[in-house]
Amino acid sequence: MTPAGPRKVAASSAALAGLSLVLAACSSGADPADYPDDDIDVIVPFSAGGPTDTVTRMIAEPMSEDLGVQLVVQNIDGAGGTVGAGQAATSDPDGYTVLMHHIGMSTAPALYEDLAYDPIADFKPVGLVTEVPMTIIASSDFEPETFEEFVTYVQENADTVTMAHAGEGSASNLCGLLLTDALGVEVTAVPYDGTGPAMAELVGGQVDFMCDQTTNTTGQITAGEVKAYAATTPERIEALPDLPTTTEGGQPDIQVSVWHGLYVPVETPDEVVSQLTDSLQVALADEKVIDQMADLGTAPVSEEQATPEAHATLLEEQTATWADIIGSGQGG
Ligand code: MLT
Repeated sequence: MTPAGPRKVAASSAALAGLSLVLAACSSGADPADYPDDDIDVIVPFSAGGPTDTVTRMIAEPMSEDLGVQLVVQNIDGAGGTVGAGQAATSDPDGYTVLMHHIGMSTAPALYEDLAYDPIADFKPVGLVTEVPMTIIASSDFEPETFEEFVTYVQENADTVTMAHAGEGSASNLCGLLLTDALGVEVTAVPYDGTGPAMAELVGGQVDFMCDQTTNTTGQITAGEVKAYAATTPERIEALPDLPTTTEGGQPDIQVSVWHGLYVPVETPDEVVSQLTDSLQVALADEKVIDQMADLGTAPVSEEQATPEAHATLLEEQTATWADIIGSGQGG
């Protein structure tokens, strides 16, 4: 008779655990077997009209078609992408909130002392999306005409020139730091909630220069709305064949490109993550997406890279790399 007590308790704990799982599933509206049966919010942690927003909208259309529900972009900007990422980390783990973020996912832990989330422990990656080259551009009335003239001008006028970026840890901030480090100068940095609004002020002449992704700069460069000095890639960019590289301009240390990935909160069921990954891969193989990306100087990553496993490995490596760079002061 003695064992009956504990057995009974064990049985009722199991029943309670089962019940609470059912209740949790009901309260978040999630039954992985029915997923997806409602719109999916995609948090973009930067302003509308910028490069992260552009890439997200490109893949949202084919993913919506594939999943049979709408992917709805929500721009939740601020603090170099950490506000939106923080909100995604604490959203219901049911697959109805997805985060699109970039290289800033891996730099934030080293830059923000009180970061409210852990990019590795609090998220499951869905997969890598694309890797985007950057360009060094300036307002059309900024004096220098070539990259070599730009380097000299910034070195001689460091106390007056202004550089736009999208907040600490943003891609434009990292590239800007790499650039000013290479040139051995400090300039006045002007932060925005994304390089979408930064671009508007650059075109308007309110800020002098910026280092930004081709997904946000190719249109303005080809339309002659901004001056373009250099591409931060080893080879010239196909969509901008006349733009020399930083290496051609004598600054080989200014090399950076920006990866983007999709994430869900860590408790999201694996079946749900798998469906999102499959749909991401459909979007990345879509001819329209491939063409749109090519026009903006980039391309979808391979199917092997667009998986949770490959992206988890990249995120861990990148987080360790940036912790070393930023910890040693090289990141500014
Ligand atoms: C950045 O610099 O991190 C990006 O340009 C952010 C954005 O999408 O606006």
